[in-house]
Formats: sequence, structure tokens, C-alpha cells
Amino acid sequence: MTQDEMKQAVAQEALKFVVKDTIIGVGTGSTANFFIDALATIKDDIIGTVASSVATADRLKDHGIKVFDLNDVEEISVYIDGADESDNGLNLIKGGGGALTREKIVAAVADQFVCIADESKLVDVMGDFPLPVEVIPMAANYVKNQIIKRIGGTPIIREDFVTDNGNLILDVEGLKITDPKAMETELNSIVGVVTNGLFANRGANVLLLGTPNGVRTI
Ligand code: A5P
Repeated sequence: MTQDEMKQAVAQEALKFVVKDTIIGVGTGSTANFFIDALATIKDDIIGTVASSVATADRLKDHGIKVFDLNDVEEISVYIDGADESDNGLNLIKGGGGALTREKIVAAVADQFVCIADESKLVDVMGDFPLPVEVIPMAANYVKNQIIKRIGGTPIIREDFVTDNGNLILDVEGLKITDPKAMETELNSIVGVVTNGLFANRGANVLLLGTPNGVRTI
């Protein structure tokens, strides 16, 4: 089974977590894109969606799936999205695609967060994938220095990239994330950080993991 086939399998499996007649949150990335394509087959079962990025909103609309502004919505039953890494406690690194802030907002509103990923994403200790941190542009150098001093690792500005919110991304390389909740909180306390790609204080409720032998549910 190829990596894409594993992503497709978890995307299909995630349809079982879609709650009929509700609004659902939809993530960003290649696995989320497979989910959007699968969702199109049952689009009449839901009221609509909230998107975690402009790219996701565009893809949903292309499929004729209704997209609501989050401020017009009171409840999201479930948020379905991929991840760049997950540990066994379902703490995640997200933001490889740069959509981490909107993803974290939609995940915060949702009752349930179902993460969909191929098996390469599950690790014992996160940090091999550089941790994305969204920063206000004028604070980039200050935040970089604070991360080196307070957290460690090597923060590198993502070249030629601006988030949907008009900000920059620092990718922090060389971390060993043994206490993801504490690191998430500490990073977010640096002035100029919008948010970081650790989803630990609000991790996933369920991880659907694509393996060559089928979908494993954690
Ligand atoms: C987008 O900002 C990310 O959080 C993605 O959800 C994450 O990078 C997973 O992407 P893939 O499904 O493309 O691996």
C-alpha cells in the first residue's frame, strides 16, 4: 500500500465520525484533502463545514460543500485533520502547511478532534519534524532569540511563506518534545507568538492511523 492509499483509507474511515445534521470542522493538508473528497460523497448529510484555511475552503466549495464563517457558528461536532507527528498520547505537531493557528482555533471549538494520518506520523518522542511557530512579522527576531534561550532547538524562518493571517512561520529544528503540554504553553507565552504547532493541551481524541494492514484506531 502506498502512503497516499493509506491516507485515502483513513480519510474514508473518518466519514464514520461525521455527525449527521451538524457543522463539522475540516483541516488542511494532503490527508485532509482526501477527506474533503470523501466528504463530498455524503455532503447532503451535514449542515456544512468550517474550514481551517483558505485552501481548504476553496476545495470544499469546489465540491459544492457549504462553508461557514466560524463567527456564524455556535457548535462544531467534530474536527477532522491530519498531523505532521503524533506521539502515543495523541499529542500532535501540526502546521507543516502553515495553517496551524486556524487549525487550533477550529479544534478548540469542536467537541471531538479526529486526527487522520498514515503510520509514518506516529513517533515515540516528537521533534524530528520541525515545530512550526506562527509569529507577528515585526517580532520574528525577538521570538527566535527567546526560543533559543528558553526552549532550545534551532528556529529557522520559513522562506517565501506568509500565513493566511499575514504572519511568518519559524520552524524549530532539533527538539526532543518530552513534555508537549508544557512546551506548548511556554512557547505561547513569548510575546509576538500567535500560536505554535503543538496540539497537546487540546490534542486529538481519536487517531486513525493508516497501515499496510488497514486502519488502526488509537
Ligand atoms: C497544515 O498546516 C498541517 O497542520 C497539516 O495538517 C499537516 O501538516 C498534515 O499534512 P499532510 O496530511 O499533508 O501530511
